This record gives sequence, structure tokens and C-alpha cells, in this order.
Amino acid sequence: MKYNYRGMTIYVEKDYAAMSAAAAAMLLQEVRENPSAVLGLATGSTPIGMYQAVVKAYEKGEADFSKVVSYNLDEYYPIQHDNDQSYHYFMKENLFKHINILPENTHVPSGESKDVEKTAAEYDAELYQIGGVDLQVLGIGNNGHIGFNEPGVVFAKGTGLVDLTQSTIEANSRFFAAIEDVPKKAVSMGIATIMQAKKIMLMASGQGKAGIIAQTIFGEITPAVPASALQLHRNVTFFLDEAAAAEILPLLK
Ligand code: F6R
Repeated sequence: MKYNYRGMTIYVEKDYAAMSAAAAAMLLQEVRENPSAVLGLATGSTPIGMYQAVVKAYEKGEADFSKVVSYNLDEYYPIQHDNDQSYHYFMKENLFKHINILPENTHVPSGESKDVEKTAAEYDAELYQIGGVDLQVLGIGNNGHIGFNEPGVVFAKGTGLVDLTQSTIEANSRFFAAIEDVPKKAVSMGIATIMQAKKIMLMASGQGKAGIIAQTIFGEITPAVPASALQLHRNVTFFLDEAAAAEILPLLK
């Protein structure tokens, strides 16, 4: 089902698989219309099904990524890129090694850099130079973070080093052997970097996200809910499953 609310497009799909397929269709359409598209990519559990659907389409010859460029949202800091919990590793395993994107066209913020603020500033400068992101994929944290822009008193501008909140460290500890192993910091695109994308798509699944999705779409625009900044963007599409949409459905009807 497709809804529009204050210029935002909201797809509510039955379950995770249907949400993943709908999100993949948008990404694939972008690449078909613009073979040299610049994609902004996310990690986490949520987009895995979409990446699988994209890989299937590629295997059937329905998509060509040979000219596509990608910039990921974030990376833990510090972390070695070959660490199996790094987002470099995640992207290689879940997407890049299965499609014909050129390794030199893929970019993930460095978790290894000695001068992290400098490499983060260079990441943004490079993005501006090539004209910015055409389609940005986002997930959302239980606390409303997008990228690793955690709730705060101001919206972060550019890519930079951020402290992860305890709730994010706890949420992400499910991927690590022990909570002590979760990095306490990350390098993340800022809200301004994200908002400069021409199109943005945000995916959310499961009832645990229902409350934060309602705040994101219907709540105040505040750095206390970083994703609420998306209300200011001209071209945002939400892909939700019914569980994640549970609190907004009564408001949309
Ligand atoms: C990942 C990212 C994060 C995740 C968010 C949700 O690159 O930027 O904002 O999108 O933490 O994670 P999942 O999908 O695991 O619930």
C-alpha cells in the first residue's frame, strides 16, 4: 500500500520480504535510469534482504553496476577493514562481491585512519566534487539515529567521528562476541551530508521500530530524533513492513 504524507512517500508492505523487494525495485530503477548513479549505502540487518534481491536481479542480467559509484554511510572506529564486524567487510560480503561494481568505485569511511577528521573531511569533499549522492539508502536506529548520527542537541553537518550511545552499543552487541568488543565510536556521514542526497529511501522492519517511525514522520523536527530531519527533504520514500508501520497506519488512513 502506498501513502503520501506532507510530500513523503510511504510504502507499507506485508512483511520483511515484501518490504525488501519494494526497496530493491527502487534501487534497481535508479541504476537502470542512471547507469552511473552514485548510491549512498547502509549496513545493518534491515537492508540485507534488499541487497539479496538486488544480487538476484543482477544474476538474472537485470542490472549493471559497472559504472555505479557507492559511498557508505558509516564505519566503526577504530576497526580494521578485514575485521568481520567492520562495515567494509559487511558490504563486500552482502553486496559488492556478488555484483559487477568496481572495487575502486566503492567507498566506505575509513575505520583505520590515523587522522580520522582529515579523512572524514576528504570523504565529504570527494562527494561534493562528484555531485553528491543520487539515491541514499537508510536504516533507522531504535533511538532515531540515521547513519550514526545519535540523538543530540544539534544536527551534525558533515562526515566525522561520533560517540555511539549506550543504546546503540547494546543494540549492535548482538553481532559481537561480547559487549566490550563493540567499538565506542564511529565515523558517520553527517545529517547535512545525508540531506544533500537527491533522493532518500529509509527502510524499517519490525514492531521495535514502530514508535520511532511514528516520531520520525509525525513528530517534531528535532536533533533529539535525528531521522526527523528527513521531513525537510523534498524526495523521501519510506519502505516499512506492517509491524514497523503499526503506529502510523491509523494516522495515514
Ligand atoms: C548502518 C547505519 C545504522 C543502521 C541502524 C539500524 O549503516 O547507518 O543507522 O541503519 O542502526 O540498524 P538495523 O538495520 O540493524 O536495525
